[in-house]
Amino acid sequence: MITNTEIERRGNLLPNHIVDFKQDNDKLYFTTQNGVILELTVLRDSAIRFRYATEHAFEPDFSYAISDDASKGYNELEVTDEIPEYVVTTSKIKVYINKTNLKIQITDLDDMVINQDEAGFHWEENYDYGGNIVKMTKVTQSAESFYGMGDKASHTNLKGKRVNNWATDSYAYGKDQEPLYKSIPFYVGLHNEAAYGIFFDNSFSTYFDFAHERRNVTSFWADGGEMNYYFFYGPKISQVVEAYTDLTGVPELPPLWALGFHQSKWSYYPEKKVKKIASTFRDLKIPCDAIYLDIDYMEGFRCFTWNNRRFPNPKKMIDELYEDGFKTVTMIDPGIKIDRDYWVYKQAMDNGYFCRRADGPHFKGKVWPGECKFPDFTNPEVREWWAGLYKEMIAEMGVHGVWNDMNEPAVMEVPTKTANLDVRHDYDGHPCSHRKAHNVYGMQMVRATFDGIKKFTFPKRPFVLTRAGYSGTQRYCATWTGDNVATWEHLWIANVQMQRMCMSGYSFVGSDIGGFAEQPNGELFARWIQMGVFHPFCRVHSSGDHGDQEPWSFGDEVTDITRKFIELRYQLLPYLYTMFYKYVKEGIPMLQSLVYYDQEDTQTHFRTDEFLFGEQILVCPVQEANAKGRRMYLPKGKWYNYWTEEVVEGGVEKWVSADIDKIPLFIKEGAVIPKYPVQQYVGEKEITELRLDIYYKEGVETSTVYEDQQEGYDYKKGRFSLRKFRQRGKTNELIMQQFKDGSYVTTYETFKLHFHGLPFKIDSIEVDNEMVDLKSINFDGNNSIEVSKDFTELHIFGK
Ligand code: NOJ
Repeated sequence: MITNTEIERRGNLLPNHIVDFKQDNDKLYFTTQNGVILELTVLRDSAIRFRYATEHAFEPDFSYAISDDASKGYNELEVTDEIPEYVVTTSKIKVYINKTNLKIQITDLDDMVINQDEAGFHWEENYDYGGNIVKMTKVTQSAESFYGMGDKASHTNLKGKRVNNWATDSYAYGKDQEPLYKSIPFYVGLHNEAAYGIFFDNSFSTYFDFAHERRNVTSFWADGGEMNYYFFYGPKISQVVEAYTDLTGVPELPPLWALGFHQSKWSYYPEKKVKKIASTFRDLKIPCDAIYLDIDYMEGFRCFTWNNRRFPNPKKMIDELYEDGFKTVTMIDPGIKIDRDYWVYKQAMDNGYFCRRADGPHFKGKVWPGECKFPDFTNPEVREWWAGLYKEMIAEMGVHGVWNDMNEPAVMEVPTKTANLDVRHDYDGHPCSHRKAHNVYGMQMVRATFDGIKKFTFPKRPFVLTRAGYSGTQRYCATWTGDNVATWEHLWIANVQMQRMCMSGYSFVGSDIGGFAEQPNGELFARWIQMGVFHPFCRVHSSGDHGDQEPWSFGDEVTDITRKFIELRYQLLPYLYTMFYKYVKEGIPMLQSLVYYDQEDTQTHFRTDEFLFGEQILVCPVQEANAKGRRMYLPKGKWYNYWTEEVVEGGVEKWVSADIDKIPLFIKEGAVIPKYPVQQYVGEKEITELRLDIYYKEGVETSTVYEDQQEGYDYKKGRFSLRKFRQRGKTNELIMQQFKDGSYVTTYETFKLHFHGLPFKIDSIEVDNEMVDLKSINFDGNNSIEVSKDFTELHIFGK
């Protein structure tokens, strides 16, 4: 109870003065004079959650973003009551909470400021809807840079920009256009060689201003909900991204075929056309693993139906395609056609699964089938029903994967392009309006889809693709960046979007190669495919309104270039799969912007074009017409030009030649790059030998190769093969050690080793401390040998 003297004392206090402090294990509560409570949770030594309530009370704590597997636990937590602040100290950071104004300052243990409130938490009551518009302003530190934020079509460094997260169907969007399809309210800040991250876990429309309105201020706010953000300290960007990815989760390993090449169009039909496309791939020997059916396979755009004139026997077609190595992926949208004779509609009506408006009527909106109603995927019962709808398509027809489109949700012929804001949602038992559920709607749809596909595909692995998503959607599916355009500018946009998504915890991502709207010329298509094969998800898709967009649609030269680069992707599959494994296991993004790769080098802070594919391959797309090459920055260290084998010292911007059949491509010195033979589809050939390309380095470099059955879940029981290769080069010698883990027995017995850049001629070789006859290991007299996959140590001696 508050006494009179207490009231008098408080009378002299400022509104934000802290009047009460309590600790409950890892949670600290600071209450101010005016009824604000800050709940500060120490999650890990460098991860803190800040949650603010007004009017003395928190709403129930619930989020779709947070993974059940997120790590917890810290080594140290000390709270001291000092003047003028409370100080929370962990083994990595200190958080100062000012007693007179509740402002936060976070420093490292040497008191270097990492992040600091400007006005800090403040809010405005929302007269129309109730609740608050919650705001946070921070000081922009000197020379601070900003990265992340999902699919923004802007410069990789967001300094000076303002962005908005509100999932939007953005046909033919432009550079810097906002908002787009996804809402990933997470950014990385970098200054004074130290990085931190902020994840504002709020599903309402959110806004971020990175020193745009005021040079020295960075702010974020939301139209409703709570000020609820997570702070991660690095100091390395990689640590920040890994911590965010750990919190919001990673996917399971996809089936290996999902990392192959995919061909799509709106739409391939009838069956004859689909088969023709498939057989042309095989005739022209262009590898391809998946073919897509867009909305026109359905009967009148009714989800879960087939148009029997176009596809008289879908099961047969899918089986036949599969015999030839093609996996069929079908589209499913959220809008369910209003049609009393349509079973999906009826089931949803009978069970009350459609979203309703505030006063009770169903929410209706126009999409491809005409007037539709929309299931409330934020209701767990609806998700379960939706998952079950896939039974026939997957278990009986044999479809191999599903893409969920239009799940922002997109609604046609209305200016807002989406559901009305008063539409009601269950939000897993926390009923709310569409203002709060909009940004997670697509995520909950694709979550239900994933559950269904996984169930019916088992014991194989599911493949699911989404257009809309919120933080955490990466746990369920791959994603693409929506309706881009066949222009050079869009090639640039696709490049930054992929890097940015990977930096935002979402690595399984690709663009519509060649552009969705309009038609590329052959040159643009060739340049795009050259980049696209280095994106985690690799698919050509186009609207079909403006002509064909198959690899052979642009003449022989482009066909050959396309084949060459898709073949390279198939050769690199074990490398790519290892990247995926590292993403799943350690949260390492599959693509790395240069600033991620080397944040200490300030030259990297504003680079947009160059990126690392995995950890050891540097790519820089050619992004303009008629180019014979381009200038690019090579990060510090030595790099082998993939095409010429020339070794280049990084830390400089350089001209790199790349005529139309090449892309600037470099391998990090010391790397061991695993390769499979070219296959027309994953599993076409049994792998009888693993090729390892070894790029000599004077010094040490470690590389990893992860393999398993490429399908199924045995890997979770330890049936995988994880090899680490430690290469140490000396002037006249190269030593390579292998460390192995896992019980999967690979189909091959030998490695074919190709040495690049050896500064000596091979004289003799020891395998596991025994000198071998060079003929017995098929030494080609130059730089290649064959050795057993079980070796533990190789010594190559030079003459
Ligand atoms: C919009 C999607 O973004 C596009 O990829 C698709 O082809 C069309 N919808 C038609 O389904």
